[in-house]
Amino acid sequence: MPSTLDLDQLVQPDRVHRKVYTEPSIFELEMEHIFEATWVYCGHASQVALPGQFQTLTIGRQPMVMVRALDGRIHVLYNRCPHRGVQLCGSPRGNTGSGFVCPYHAWSFHLDGRVRAIPLKQGYEGTRLNPNDPQCSMTPAARVDSYRGFVFASLSPHCPPLLEFLGDARVAFDDMCDRSPEGEVEVVPICHRVVQQSNWKFFMENQLDALHPSVTHQSTGVSARRVEKRVREKHGEAPLHFHYLSTFASSFDQWDSVQTVNFPRGHGVLKAYMGLRPSDPDSRAYEDLLRQAYGADRTEEYLSRSIHHVLIYPYLSVQSPLQQLRCLRPLGPDQTLSEIWHFRLKGAPEAIYRRAMWYFNLVNSPATMINADDLENWARAQWGLQARGNDWVSFHRNMGSDTESAGIVYSTKGTSEVVMRNQFKAWREYMHAAATPAATAQAPAAPNR
Ligand code: FES
Ligand SMILES: [Fe+2]
Repeated sequence: MPSTLDLDQLVQPDRVHRKVYTEPSIFELEMEHIFEATWVYCGHASQVALPGQFQTLTIGRQPMVMVRALDGRIHVLYNRCPHRGVQLCGSPRGNTGSGFVCPYHAWSFHLDGRVRAIPLKQGYEGTRLNPNDPQCSMTPAARVDSYRGFVFASLSPHCPPLLEFLGDARVAFDDMCDRSPEGEVEVVPICHRVVQQSNWKFFMENQLDALHPSVTHQSTGVSARRVEKRVREKHGEAPLHFHYLSTFASSFDQWDSVQTVNFPRGHGVLKAYMGLRPSDPDSRAYEDLLRQAYGADRTEEYLSRSIHHVLIYPYLSVQSPLQQLRCLRPLGPDQTLSEIWHFRLKGAPEAIYRRAMWYFNLVNSPATMINADDLENWARAQWGLQARGNDWVSFHRNMGSDTESAGIVYSTKGTSEVVMRNQFKAWREYMHAAATPAATAQAPAAPNR
């Protein structure tokens, strides 16, 4: 198992060793000291709108279930029977009624996880089994909290409050919800799930990597640009969805004019580069609704935020202007499950939902040409880093020329690799915090399993 000293040698400010993407023992440390020690996104409250509705998920390596109780509260529990360990919810989502019943020997539990009944009361006299002992109940996550309907849980009682963890990256949820005339979104209950054959860090780096689109997505971008031009010549204008693809063919200079903003804890923002504020009749009607709800000044403030997407390290990419969210659930050093979610703006016209749906299908879904290009790169990087020919991954681009103010690092060039440097800075902080004696003393008790 690598020591802190080894990790310092493996992760340097300008380069990292290939092993941090491939080594199983490092992956185990990441799960324990990052994913199982911080706030992890569970889902949106509308996924469990009714009592008994549940959604399963993983936090690090731990199988969990998010459930709505009869009193309306949302709980996040280990998805494991305290009797002999059987998973209580076998489906990704559903409604479990007024409680959980184990399919093996019928122990049952309230929706907050407390044991409800153990069948055949006789037979346990004189043993250590005590139904009042928390060990007879489903174990809850140490912390559960939400921000604007987005639910998070932490397996550690020692992480900072959710809002402190999110920091400035909370704009992801403000930007998404403020675009609704009702200030809220609701989930579209179709989630695409893709298993990426690559380490989770490739996805996180790639989200703010403005150096790759004009190369990786060139064929798609150039083709879309040609068709867009023809449609415009013929009809006077082209639908916005051509633009979603054609901007990927922007030049390096154009990408350099886009800025990344890099927050503490590895979070960050890629500023807007697509024109996402058209002036067609549907868009004008939508903006009128926002003005009625918020007034002209706040509507302008909300619609002029410069965001393409927001990254919440180490697992979320939120495309707030188009109401989309991608969440990583790492499976192993070379396998990562990604969930691709989509939301409706409550109170917004159907046409605005359809406009965002085009982007979901054209850029983020498993069927898109854009996503496929990225997936292949990450898988090929995973294979490449297993080679011994060169041990280092380079993050040197524009090092030393970025500006920092109040802990936030601003790229002077959009293609700066400051994004990766900032993420690995957070990575080291998580790993170091885990290695300090104070943290060790405060380490949460092992899950009650
Ligand atoms: S394993 Fe759940 S009741 Fe026995
Ligand atoms: Fe890409």
